Amino acid sequence: MDPIIAPSVLAADFSNLEKEAKMLNQSVADWYHIDVMDGVFVPNISFGMPVIKSLKKHATKPFDVHLMIVQPERYIKDFKAVGADILTVHYEASNHLHRTLQAIKDEDMKAGVALNPHTSVDLLENTLEDIDLVCIMSVNPGFGGQTFIDGTYRKVEKLRKMIDAAGCNTLIEIDGGVTSANARKLIDAGAHALVAGSFVFRSDNPIETISKLKNC
Ligand code: DX5
Ligand code: ZN
Repeated sequence: MDPIIAPSVLAADFSNLEKEAKMLNQSVADWYHIDVMDGVFVPNISFGMPVIKSLKKHATKPFDVHLMIVQPERYIKDFKAVGADILTVHYEASNHLHRTLQAIKDEDMKAGVALNPHTSVDLLENTLEDIDLVCIMSVNPGFGGQTFIDGTYRKVEKLRKMIDAAGCNTLIEIDGGVTSANARKLIDAGAHALVAGSFVFRSDNPIETISKLKNC
């Protein structure tokens, strides 16, 4: 199966989001990856609901919203209202992860859990069947354009074994430093979805770059 490709809008031209949306709509990208940062959970602030709502007007593909915020459970309904289709919270930011996943599903969204590079996939043993998507961070969250952490492959392999053993349909997504140099290896290790920011938006031909990732 071809990988799911989710270009990260964090690397897009914010002064012309309509143009960027047209490009993504036209490309073989599957989802829009949307990074929300609060300056507390991560050292950076990105954008919030008004920007997502405006982008949604021009987008024809699902919104994969990655919350890098503390107490993400406070904003579930708000992100649904502005167009989130998949809502991912960080394991490290969730005291009551099981309840939060349920609350996301109650709003008719897919529920995702993101893991920082230092967080073991073993910690998902008791919730795996309730998770639609696990986002394995392959950089420390907060910024685009960082270098891929090699230890990611081992985490993907381990998580894929856990998913297969449990017989569930959880998707594995990789986020951070993805390029055509590591895409194939990530899919072979068991990943289903690849997020790519700088590699897509800093390239000369983003549409072609997205196809390259899709056909890695
Ligand atoms: C990092 C974000 C990523 C980021 C990826 O905190 O979660 O989604 O946009 O950007 P690249 O692909 O440039 O590493
Ligand atoms: Zn992200």
